[in-house]
Amino acid sequence: MSNRLAGQVAVVTGGTRGIGRSIAEALLDADMGVVICGREEAGVARSVKEMTETNAGRRMAGRACNVGRYEDVAAFFRFAIQSFGRLDVLVNNAGVGWFDPVDRITPEQWRQVIDTNLTGAFYCIREAAPLMRRQGGGSIINIGSLAGKNPMAGGAAYNASKFGLLGLSEAAMLDLRYENIRVSCIMPGSVATEFGSGTSREADGAPGVENRPRAYRADRRSLAGAAAANAGQPG
Ligand SMILES: NC(=O)c1ccc[n+]([C@@H]2O[C@H](COP(=O)([O-])OP(=O)(O)OC[C@H]3O[C@@H](n4cnc5c(N)ncnc54)[C@H](OP(=O)(O)O)[C@@H]3O)[C@@H](O)[C@H]2O)c1
Repeated sequence: MSNRLAGQVAVVTGGTRGIGRSIAEALLDADMGVVICGREEAGVARSVKEMTETNAGRRMAGRACNVGRYEDVAAFFRFAIQSFGRLDVLVNNAGVGWFDPVDRITPEQWRQVIDTNLTGAFYCIREAAPLMRRQGGGSIINIGSLAGKNPMAGGAAYNASKFGLLGLSEAAMLDLRYENIRVSCIMPGSVATEFGSGTSREADGAPGVENRPRAYRADRRSLAGAAAANAGQPG
């Protein structure tokens, strides 16, 4: 079977660990150049080094970027183009979760969730779309969540961000479809990662998720396979 992705270039936000890391590895396996970001330079450098070592000869770059800051995002996309000269796939994966009832979540927590999960995706699409347009097309994959369809108690900020991300995805799809830029939104249920560690509730599944059997949560590599297969679809 031909590999449509070979030689192409992908940006994966939040590619230092978890789902984003697995997607970056799957795209490296498909012989793509891959550029990742996370908020901390040291974490990005460590992840790039590890992925370069385990994917010998593959093309890999990374830079610190908080997707909730537009200046960071603009600099990150300039870096991606300087690194590999083109952009074919954007995976908007960076995400955070704070889980508390609507009258207890703080304005700062609310802002962080919306800025990262929703506004960050918009900033990245705004930078990526003109680059893809100039090349004649591309693919944008937003990592949503079942929380973008099913509200949960304690999920006001996270639900709002992921419902918003689905709306953004569908509107962007309509805006960009005739320019051969595909926009899709993958909406996983619970996936076994460190997501939400240190927040008031763990993970994507809301109250009670910590009591579920481990096997209930999907393996992040199977999700990465779905994302890579999506990226390789024709326009
Ligand atoms: N795990 C689940 O059950 C689940 C289910 C459905 C959907 N999702 C979604 O999947 C995505 C990835 O989740 P995950 O489980 O892999 O989480 P994770 O293990 O916590 O990884 C999150 C990644 O995002 C980065 N990140 C966070 N805030 C950022 C920011 N402002 N700018 C740039 N990078 C940032 C983190 O790096 P730094 O911390 O170094 O910045 C890290 O690389 C999220 O969008 C999440 O909502 C997760």
